[in-house]
Amino acid sequence: MLIDLNPFIKPIIMNSIIFSKMINKVVLGDAVKIMKNIPDNSIDLVFADPPYNIGIKYDNYKDKLPQKDYIKWTDKWFDEVTRVLKQTGSLYVAINDENAAEFVAMLKNIC
Ligand SMILES: C[S@@+](CC[C@H](N)C(=O)[O-])C[C@H]1O[C@@H](n2cnc3c(N)ncnc32)[C@H](O)[C@@H]1O
Repeated sequence: MLIDLNPFIKPIIMNSIIFSKMINKVVLGDAVKIMKNIPDNSIDLVFADPPYNIGIKYDNYKDKLPQKDYIKWTDKWFDEVTRVLKQTGSLYVAINDENAAEFVAMLKNIC
């Protein structure tokens, strides 16, 4: 469920929108596809709370991919995040202990 917190934050449900329409909005959709609409080096802060791949029962996605596929997907969204972040930007990721070390290693390779 999405709660509209104030009149300046309006949710948009779209797969593809132009970047200027995303400012001060909550955008619902596939994060990798949505980030493709964001220019390089334009974002100060990214916070991600991705699936942990531990088999939690969600309605809309499978939280138990083969580890190889999970890492491949993680690599995809890391690529987009590091592309959109400014050189001075920060990435905060909430992740479980089982994946934390691998995430750090992947990010060290990208950055
Ligand atoms: C660990 S949960 C985060 C829950 C969230 N922080 C909250 O408090 O509700 C991972 C979330 O990632 C979402 N998710 C999975 N694949 C996604 C994708 N490709 N793009 C955007 N969100 C996705 C899932 O629907 C799930 O809600």
